[in-house]
Parts: sequence; structure tokens; C-alpha cells
Amino acid sequence: MATSAGTLDITEVVRQVMARLKEVERSGRPGTGPCGVYASMEEAIQRAEAAQKKVARMTLEEREKCIAAIRATLRAHARELSEMAVQETGMGRVEDKIIKNNLVADKTPGTEDLITEAWSGDRGLTLVEMSPFGVIGAITPSTNPTETVFCNAIGMFAAGNSVVFSPHPGAKAVSLRAVELINQAIQEAGGPEDAVTSVAEPSIEAAQVLFKHPAVRLLVATGGPGVVHAALTSGKKAIGAGAGNPPVVVDETADIEKAGHDIIAGGTFDNNLPCIAEKEIIAVESVADYLLFNLLKNGAVQLKDRRDIDRLAEVVLTPEGKPSRKFIGRDAAVLLKAIGKEVPPETRGIVVEVEKEHPFVQEELMMPILPLVRVRNVDEAIEFAVEVEHGNRHTAIMHSKNVDNMTRLAREIQTTIFVKNGPSYAGIGVGGEGFATFTIAGPTGEGLTSARTFTRKRRCVLVDAFSIR
Ligand code: COA
Repeated sequence: MATSAGTLDITEVVRQVMARLKEVERSGRPGTGPCGVYASMEEAIQRAEAAQKKVARMTLEEREKCIAAIRATLRAHARELSEMAVQETGMGRVEDKIIKNNLVADKTPGTEDLITEAWSGDRGLTLVEMSPFGVIGAITPSTNPTETVFCNAIGMFAAGNSVVFSPHPGAKAVSLRAVELINQAIQEAGGPEDAVTSVAEPSIEAAQVLFKHPAVRLLVATGGPGVVHAALTSGKKAIGAGAGNPPVVVDETADIEKAGHDIIAGGTFDNNLPCIAEKEIIAVESVADYLLFNLLKNGAVQLKDRRDIDRLAEVVLTPEGKPSRKFIGRDAAVLLKAIGKEVPPETRGIVVEVEKEHPFVQEELMMPILPLVRVRNVDEAIEFAVEVEHGNRHTAIMHSKNVDNMTRLAREIQTTIFVKNGPSYAGIGVGGEGFATFTIAGPTGEGLTSARTFTRKRRCVLVDAFSIR
């Protein structure tokens, strides 16, 4: 907007203001209607309830047209949303969030995910169809705010539901912007108003209204332990996607150079915010030094002096040894600056070698600090990986060429996602096969959620006809 002479280009200012006014005119303002954001949760639910009747009557082709428009709007606004999210929450990296948003646009399944089961025989034809729940209440986090809102919206709408979002209060502005964009896209593609709604001031109190409302048929909670627990104990059917503490095991048979690359790629992605990201490295002694060398080669720095490690722990942890909110999702350079160390801003992560009991290992930090624990052999590595995952059964990663070792860890750790020989994000479809999601329902067993997760199975029986065998 500034010209080369440093003065403001007034034509450009007017153009941008006019474009924004047009957008506001089209979408309405929060609390006034078509953008889907209402002053009270009660109104947001009522609007979504009315909209769901229209969504359920849409053909799959019509729904797919709306989903294509949602994907397109997300691609077009990926940078804007990513910048807003980092600015509002203070967490993560813009470029990584752009990748996450585009991943949702490209790889979240739509209506093709709804598969019909059928039996036919002497007594006719029976189908099991995946039909909508109705109105879904979706709790979304501050760590992946727009990714979760868009991903949930695509899957839930594809299945014929409407959605009332209760976003994390700390990511309110960007989450409501996402709701607004989704609504605009649906309406521009010929769909109804309010297929996706939310409340102007999200809070745990507003979420409680959602939890108790008779019109809401299903709750889907993605977030921190408190809010997920509240949803799961609300008395309604709920799908819960909570926290993890994913270990990455490196045994003596692994391709160590690749392991070093992949661990930094996954473990520092969006400053370690994703719940699937590598949170602690467990390396077999015989390869630990070479792994360390390769971690550093790929953009991490190591803190070797125990006094530096202790100071970092003092700063980024609370007195109770929990991650301090102020440092969650911050750049490695910011964390190091807090203990008086200057590194280039592009530094991806901080590697520290510590003992098994250290809070950096035991707690899910969600910071680009990668603690490395050295163990004698793969047996000890597997045993410790299971212990430090704390029964979350969320995600584990292993670098190995030994199929028996990989099978053993898979069997013993029981995680929803187990990535072998790749960065953790291969587990949600980046550089790995399979679709993407940001709602990974380990606790309630649905696994990686998609449109079919948000459906009720209904049996449709036609007696003595339509079997032509
Ligand atoms: N809707 C309404 N209220 C919500 C909410 C939502 N979607 N999400 C959180 N809240 C409420 C909480 O219940 C809490 O209320 P309280 O203060 O009355 O108890 C308040 O908002 C603050 O939330 P909380 O997340 O506990 O605190 P925070 O903002 O300090 O912490 C994180 C931020 C990122 C550390 C925390 O959310 C966290 O640990 N998340 C885990 C990572 C995650 O979200 N994983 C899920 C998979 S992506």
C-alpha cells in the first residue's frame, strides 16, 4: 500500500476499503444474520436447527457443490486465516498454518465418504445408509483453530448435518471469521443460511448451553482435557478428541539421516502444536549420537549445558512443572531469548538430552523443544514409549527397518495413529496415504474422523423384491 516514495497510495486504500465493505454487505455483521454468528447460543442453535432441515433435503450433488466452494474459500483465505490465528493466539508459524489449512481444503473427505452397505437375497434387499444426526455441537481448539472449524464443517455438512461451533475463547476472532467464510461459501453455492453457526462471545458457559440443548444430537469436542471431559460427561452422545504425548522411537536399524530429518520436520511443524507431533525422542544408545548430529543438521540447536536446560525449564514451565501458556507454540528463537540466548529466527527447534523423568519428556509441551532420552536397547525403548504416552492412545512414531520391532510397539502402545519411517504428519495425509482430519477421536474410538463419523446408521429393508440374483 505504501508507494516507492513511502507515501500512501490512496487508490489502493479506497479499493481495499470498498472490497471489505462489499464483503461485509454480503455476509452481514456478527449477530445480524447470514454470516452465522449470533449474540446468544440459543439463537445459534435455533438457526442451525432450521438450516439442518434444508441441508438434509439437498441432493448429494448440491452438497458437493457447497463443499467445493468451502474448499475454494479456504484456499483463497489460507494466508489471511493463518496470519490472524498466529496474531490472535500468539501460537504457531504462519507458513506452517498455511500448509495445514490447504491440507484441510484438499484432503478432507466429502460426500464420497458416505458408503452404503447392502445385503440382497431371497427375502429382498436391505441397505444400511449413513444418515445425518441433525444439529451437531462442535468444540474447537486454539491450537488448530481454522483447520478444525473447516475440517469439521466439511465432514459434518457432507453428512447432512448443520453445525453449531463453540470455538476456544482464545481463538475467537479467527474461528468466527472461519464460520463467516464457510457460510458465505455455502450460500454462494446455493445452500441455505446458517448451516454453520456460532456465538459472538464463546465461553465455557455458552458451551454448556450447547451441551444441554435438546436440539443438539451429537457433540464433537476437539481441545484441551478440560473441555473434552466436560463434553464427554454432558450426558449427550459425544466424540472426544483430546491431547496426546507422542513418542518417537529410533532403533539401531533405522535410516538415521532420514530419522533426523523427519523428526525435525514433524516435531517442529507449527512449533509442535499439533497433537500428533513428535513430543519426545527415545533413541537406542548405539545410534543416539549420530541421530543428534542429524537433528542439528536439519535446523535444530542443542542446549548441552545442564544449567541452560534448567533455566529453560524454569522459564517455560510453571512452578507445578506444567507448560506455561505464555510459551506454548512460540518460536525456538523466542524460547531461547527468554534465557538470554540469541539464535536466528528460522531456527526450527531446540534439542536437549535429559533423563526419562524430566518434565520436558513427561509433559505435552507443545513447544519446539525436543527432549532426547537415551536407552540401552529397543526393548527399553518400547517399554518407555508406552509409559510416556500415558495411556492417551493418541499417536506414536517409529524409525526402524525391523518389522518385528515395529509390530511390537504398535501392539503394545495401542495408539490411534502409528507412523513408521516418516514425520508424524504423514499420519494425517501429508506425505502419507490417507485423508486428513484435525479431530482424532482416540478416547471414544472413532479414530480419524470424517463425514461417515458424523452419521447415524439406518437400516432400510425391502421385503421380497429387488434381488435379481
Ligand atoms: N468452547 C468453549 N470454551 C472453551 C473451549 C471451547 N471450544 N475451549 C476451551 N474452553 C474454555 C476452557 O474450558 C477454559 O475455561 P475455564 O477457564 O472456565 O476452565 C478456558 O476456555 C481456557 O481454556 P484452556 O484451553 O484450558 O486454557 P488455555 O487457553 O490457557 O490453554 C492450551 C491453551 C492450548 C494450552 C490448551 O487448550 C491445551 O492444552 N490444549 C491441548 C491441545 C489441544 O487442544 N489438543 C486437541 C487436539 S488439536
